[in-house]
Amino acid sequence: MVFRSRIVGCGHYLPQRVVTNADLEKIIDTSDEWIRKRTGIQARHIAAEGELTSDLARSAAQEALKNAGRKAEDLDLIVLATSTPDETFPATATRVQAQLGMTSGAAFDVQAVCSGFVYALSVADNFVKAGAARKVLVIGAETYSRILDWQDRGTCVLFGDGAGAVVLEAEEGSGANSDRGILSTHIFSDGRHHDALYVDGGPSSTQSTGHLRMQGQEVFRHAVNNMAQAIDVALEANDMTPGDVDWLVPHQANSRIIEAMARKLNLPMDQVIMTVQKHANTSSASIPLALYEGVNDGRIKEGQVTLMEAMGGGFTWGSAIARL
Ligand code: UT7
Repeated sequence: MVFRSRIVGCGHYLPQRVVTNADLEKIIDTSDEWIRKRTGIQARHIAAEGELTSDLARSAAQEALKNAGRKAEDLDLIVLATSTPDETFPATATRVQAQLGMTSGAAFDVQAVCSGFVYALSVADNFVKAGAARKVLVIGAETYSRILDWQDRGTCVLFGDGAGAVVLEAEEGSGANSDRGILSTHIFSDGRHHDALYVDGGPSSTQSTGHLRMQGQEVFRHAVNNMAQAIDVALEANDMTPGDVDWLVPHQANSRIIEAMARKLNLPMDQVIMTVQKHANTSSASIPLALYEGVNDGRIKEGQVTLMEAMGGGFTWGSAIARL
């Protein structure tokens, strides 16, 4: 029997506290004008003290399950993308599994920084295609506020906290042209670029958590090139042209990068889901948060072709095409 996976529900969670650029002006040498002009960011959500990545993930997961009309006990797999886990181990996914009341199946984390959701989706989709899972929760959840150096204006203004989730369900068939489901996923990495974007700590190196370090311009340059390549590969694999894409749901790091990807696809900005202005960069949560928004407000309709792409530390990058 041949299976494909279909997204049957989306959920999201954003911490209550909103920090605006004006708030940041009070604590570091920056300006609303600089942040807006260079990144498009106006505000970000920041987790409350004691609010953990697993808490954000659980809330997003519960909403995704509710919107899918499924229960936690129906699931046989949770794949959680995060680079800000609650603890070094166990996997944050297992904490979410326990909180949801799911006592069978398996749960594990995937670590691919800002490409985490595309990686997790790819892993989950391949489990489904292999017949190894039938109902999968895929989550992207982050608390980057905990790994930011709040003295470093070059990075601390760029990120926010949040979580997004989707429920995937196996359907029979490999997916003919008009069938709904995930049509393809492609993931890539090139570990030579470690120093451009990393956290200067960890259990094996410093026995401390460390802080995010980034060479912004270097990352920017690679982001545009790598995501353009991932888009080309995805279109080619599906025998599609840019004209076949209804929606671009990109990783949300910088509005200038998103606009460059839209130009590449010749897509007007009203076919791009943009959340970076109010969420900032939520790393692996950014795509599922944007997807939730597009589906929830009715812009993305059943059967429409949705292209997702991301790039992050490692470097890692990738793309996925789904017919929603
Ligand atoms: O999600 C993972 C992928 N990450 C990304 O895709 C991020 C990619 N990179 C970027 O989005 C951009 O490179 C940034 C937004 C990070 C930076 O924008 P930029 O146009 O590349 O600025 P820059 O780093 O070249 O800095 C320009 C100037 C510098 O001042 P001088 O040396 O020209 O005097 C910085 O010190 O802006 C200064 N600057 C700031 N000024 C006010 C840097 N950060 C700030 C700040 N407020 N927050």
